[in-house]
Amino acid sequence: MAVLKRNHIPASEPVRVPIARPRLPTREMIAPYLDRIDDARRYANHGPLVVELEQRLAGRLVDAAEVVTCANGTVAITLALRAAGAKPGSLCLMPAWTFCASAHAAMGAGLTPYFVDVDPETWMLDPAAVLAAIAAAPAEVGAILPVAAFGRTPDLACWRDVADGTGLPVIVDGAAAFDGLECAPVPVTVSLHATKTCAAGEGGYVASSDAAFLASLRGLASFGFHGDRSARTPACNAKMSEYAAAVALASLDAWPADRARFALTAQRLRAGLALRPEIGFQPGWGARWISSACVVQTPAWRAPGIAGALAALGVETRDWWGEGCHRQPAFADCPRAPLPVTDRLARSTLGLPYFIDLDEADVRRVAAALVDALETAHG
Ligand SMILES: Cc1ncc(COP(=O)(O)O)c(C=O)c1O
Repeated sequence: MAVLKRNHIPASEPVRVPIARPRLPTREMIAPYLDRIDDARRYANHGPLVVELEQRLAGRLVDAAEVVTCANGTVAITLALRAAGAKPGSLCLMPAWTFCASAHAAMGAGLTPYFVDVDPETWMLDPAAVLAAIAAAPAEVGAILPVAAFGRTPDLACWRDVADGTGLPVIVDGAAAFDGLECAPVPVTVSLHATKTCAAGEGGYVASSDAAFLASLRGLASFGFHGDRSARTPACNAKMSEYAAAVALASLDAWPADRARFALTAQRLRAGLALRPEIGFQPGWGARWISSACVVQTPAWRAPGIAGALAALGVETRDWWGEGCHRQPAFADCPRAPLPVTDRLARSTLGLPYFIDLDEADVRRVAAALVDALETAHG
């Protein structure tokens, strides 16, 4: 078999099952909201649709948390770090096993990413290991940024305890955690990017039960204005427009049915691979919570070989977080703790095709190709 680079399909093999096919609300579903924009002639600046969206997103949370929307999930992290008082010039402790946006966001807030390894079971930061990493850090740690791995929500009460115990701001990057997020004892940021399950196209939000923190964040996203037109702090414009809110509201309308479809597809994939215990799904994925990515554990170090074999069978895969965030050239100079688990996950996990209308035949094709690849792929 030809040597294949991951994520690339040989020219001779057409992609028969793509990795993702995002599906946002149709124009018919968005139209009632567009009519409201036309009537109100409010297009931006925390207009009625953004207000409604924030209320509906907050209504999904069981505690008294509120929500502030932003232009995207990356800027939501940056502004949350700033609003929480993360000290510029300090280190932002984060997992190496994350998407580059986490690190870009920390740098946008004036902090330097400090990459720490993740727990091999959860694929996320372990609070006890974080305390040890703070003690061993090469410089002052000014904030902690746990990441919800592919939408799996970490134990937020535990992170509240870490925030209280260390006195450090803890912001959870929950970019893909829209479905699993039930409360916000620490601030959680969520992405509404087109690739996510509930989407605005581009958009994001921050959930928190700290009203003063959210008021500060809203000002930072709006020129430093706090109720008047006086720029009180250095800030930016990261507000969500009414048009993005219209798409997100239509996406929320469709959510109960969409969620059921995502779950059904996930269950089919799980069933298709049920007799292959060497393929591990994230706990609860497709049952207690869903996200827009299906990332499975393969036998250690074999993911690149399996990806190549799947590509040859026309099944696209993706290593969503590459070799780990720490290996991206932009962060080459950032400090890091030893990262053996991240290095292993990067070569042992694989993103499989998964989207809302992945049909039954394609699910079968993916499962059969993966079983085949397990038998034949090397390395
Ligand atoms: C872990 C993580 N953090 C942050 C982001 C950034 O979100 P956005 O694309 O809305 O800026 C993403 C995007 O997928 C992500 O996966």
